[in-house]
Amino acid sequence: MLKMRIYGMLAAMIVLHGSPANGQIAAYDQPYRPQIHFSPRQNWTNDPNGLVYFRGEYHLFFQYNPLGDQWGHMSWGHAVSKDLLHWQELPVAIPEGNGVMIFTGSVVVDRENSSGFCAAKSECLVAIYTGHSKTPEGQRQAQNIAYSRDNGRTWTKYAGNPVLDLHLADFRDPSVSWDETARQWIMAVSLPKEHKVRFYSSTNLKQWTRLSDFGPAGDIAGDWECPDLLRIPSSDGKESVWALKVGLNPGAPQGGSGEQYFLGNFNGKGFVSSNEPGSHGWTNYGKDDYCAISFNGLPQGQKPILLGWMSNWQYAAKLPTAPWRGQMSLPRQLSFVRDEAGLTLEQEPVIAPLRMKTLPIPASSGTGDSVAIPYELDLQFGHPDAPIFGIRLYSDEEHWTEIGFDMTKKQFYVDRTKSGAAIDEDFPAKTTAPTALARPYNLQLIVDRSSVEAYAQNGTIAMTNLIYPLSANSTIKIFPPDAKTAFSGQIWILKSIWDQSPLSK
Ligand code: FRU
Repeated sequence: MLKMRIYGMLAAMIVLHGSPANGQIAAYDQPYRPQIHFSPRQNWTNDPNGLVYFRGEYHLFFQYNPLGDQWGHMSWGHAVSKDLLHWQELPVAIPEGNGVMIFTGSVVVDRENSSGFCAAKSECLVAIYTGHSKTPEGQRQAQNIAYSRDNGRTWTKYAGNPVLDLHLADFRDPSVSWDETARQWIMAVSLPKEHKVRFYSSTNLKQWTRLSDFGPAGDIAGDWECPDLLRIPSSDGKESVWALKVGLNPGAPQGGSGEQYFLGNFNGKGFVSSNEPGSHGWTNYGKDDYCAISFNGLPQGQKPILLGWMSNWQYAAKLPTAPWRGQMSLPRQLSFVRDEAGLTLEQEPVIAPLRMKTLPIPASSGTGDSVAIPYELDLQFGHPDAPIFGIRLYSDEEHWTEIGFDMTKKQFYVDRTKSGAAIDEDFPAKTTAPTALARPYNLQLIVDRSSVEAYAQNGTIAMTNLIYPLSANSTIKIFPPDAKTAFSGQIWILKSIWDQSPLSK
């Protein structure tokens, strides 16, 4: 019944918006199909892998099952983009083979052919990933490499694989980057059951020397996965800190999979976490942003860009979408702020190129106008007296998503318990994050057909949640009605990445 209603609505939308230009675009108009986020044309995806900028293209590799819409046969899918928003899916880049699945990892630009894999006097791409194989005792995970001399289009697995093997069942997700000071490669790789990130160095990507361990630290309720080591500038550009991001699954505070970060220093050998307040936090306070990693190869001076898998292992296998399952979060530019509330990561989503036109926020007391998804809301609240204030996005009178600030609990929250399709017992949730009185009560919300991404207090809180609304439009209402007096904002209508018509402003 519910399904029929949604199919009917979307069929009507397709008629209204005209028929899609070609078969490729038609493939991206199913119910719940993300319109501003990457999702594979078909089949299963989890973690982003090998994010790299090379010769004018952003590459997104991703954990992919070429044979179905459940986890399995893990291989690296591949998509490219010129602007981080419009993605073109390419054939599978690195397929499973010889009993080895291709787990999460990274891609580096080998500018000086340190690996010897590139054509003479040329640069090329090298992938460093976990090879996962079954053994009579259970499983084995070891680090492998592959290279591409044609801008990531075709890949050759190194004949000498694995390049780093501790004969362990759990040893995965290498994140490799170039350390210009020491002129060597640094790998951060996870020992999930020991809650440790181990650092290695190499001059040729083939031989690796152990440097140090970080952890156990912070939250250790579950496996540590998908580490990422990166350098982050302050928002005023005057200084930088190092950040170590680590996935935690299960056992994250919001339930299931989550991501913590540590801010501190990396001295070329090891990472030391700062003890300033705020330097240990959560990259995302929602339920659906896991195994985010940052892009390698960005031009000098560009802020780091992080992108994650928009799901949670609690219910990833049950998402009600076909013929694909899984999508990526928006890319976010990273910086940090040091203020009265401490040292905190700031995230700013890349979205501006999709903005088409603005609309005013409807009066809260009225019935509210209906806005077509996808859209963005930018809101600034004063400090109203109301103990709780925020916004509701209604699909009908009984179904809405509530996003607000609770001044009594000092929390920001997104409540999807009444949003629509429930999927699984772990799905309905109200996710929360601590707020800081010293920071402005502003909010940027990005609403797609199956998600709400929230950035509050200048992006010091990021909260990404899957939402399966019953309607392709939202009716927007500020609450309580008198909060309107201390509030300003606007709606941006966003252009679907699958809409090829010229951008109308
Ligand atoms: C995290 C993860 C990684 C692993 C990959 C396998 O979501 O479990 O640790 O490499 O997924 O698909």
